[in-house]
Amino acid sequence: MLQQPDRGAADHIFAVYGMLLDMYFSMSLQEIVHLKVADHLSEGPQSVEVLAKQVGVQADMLALHMRTMCSKDIFVEIEEGVFAHTERSRYLQTDIPCSLVSVSELIRSDSQRAVWTPEALAYSIRTGKSAFEHILGENLWSFLGTHPEDLAIANGAVVTLSDSLNEVIAEVLDLTDRRSFVDVGGGDGSFLATLLSKYPETTGALLEVPPMIENVKAQEFISELAGRYTYHSGDFLEGVPEGGDAYLLKEILTHWNDEACLKILNNCRKAMAPAGRLYVIEYILQTPPAKFTPYLVTGLIHRQWFDEDYQRTVPQLQRLLEQAGFEVVSHTPTSTDDSILTAQVRA
Ligand SMILES: C[S@@+](CC[C@H](N)C(=O)[O-])C[C@H]1O[C@@H](n2cnc3c(N)ncnc32)[C@H](O)[C@@H]1O
Repeated sequence: MLQQPDRGAADHIFAVYGMLLDMYFSMSLQEIVHLKVADHLSEGPQSVEVLAKQVGVQADMLALHMRTMCSKDIFVEIEEGVFAHTERSRYLQTDIPCSLVSVSELIRSDSQRAVWTPEALAYSIRTGKSAFEHILGENLWSFLGTHPEDLAIANGAVVTLSDSLNEVIAEVLDLTDRRSFVDVGGGDGSFLATLLSKYPETTGALLEVPPMIENVKAQEFISELAGRYTYHSGDFLEGVPEGGDAYLLKEILTHWNDEACLKILNNCRKAMAPAGRLYVIEYILQTPPAKFTPYLVTGLIHRQWFDEDYQRTVPQLQRLLEQAGFEVVSHTPTSTDDSILTAQVRA
């Protein structure tokens, strides 16, 4: 007799079917972002006919895409054929802090699509090597060096994803008894600026590679925090600014192999003031993961780009820290998927 799946099986089948379709949902969302529909809703709700004229597409097609977005709280259909922003869709506008437009455009860019084909995935999963280099013939950094548009989009994406977490991490990162912060590989410098604003009696030093320092110099907070904020161009594999009592490694160790991590950690230990502390802030891998987090897919993206990338578990990070002469004193989760491991020099 023909065996039919029961109700429970149908639920599972449809759940997995939905996951297989996630790629098309994402592509639809990317197209809506690319058309700048969100910008046309910034002044208030709008009918799909007017929106379609503004962005130069067919109204019935746009309505199909918009309703699919609404099912995940991206835009809301307030009456039939009239759409408005939700808290989520606001971040799809172009000129707002933490806009997701660069992130969407990065995913949609030719170079990224080239490394997310079945052939590219088959290559990386079989060889463990960078599909980016295999397909585009050069590594990501040299590619970005000769493609300024891609570089601007990639920088915008990094800044959004990093800045959006500054406040939530600063909320749980307790630096009350610290006076001098060093942000090692501090990116655009905004995290350090957030911490200096939260702790007015402190000073901070940022270490970055020379091109990033040029970006940091241009930031508004540099003049606002004059006298308290210094920036240093250098290489954390060689050394880090001395004398701080709080060394921050935010989204750093995850990109380096154990040998390089030990160099960075040892440099921090040697440079820090007596009773200094080290704060490792990044996604900490759970095996198996308790829930889905975008960081899991970010890990896959990094392995399409690079031969190496390391999301580590608490015991793995703990071992590295111990090898570099530290002991972990606390593990603090944040309201995002990042955690903070606090360490001090082992007595
Ligand atoms: C993933 S980003 C993290 C940036 C920042 N900590 C954040 O959380 O937004 C890694 C940073 O390390 C910097 N970096 C890479 N190699 C470096 C090196 N050898 N010395 C100093 N900084 C470096 C990069 O320029 C980049 O800004």
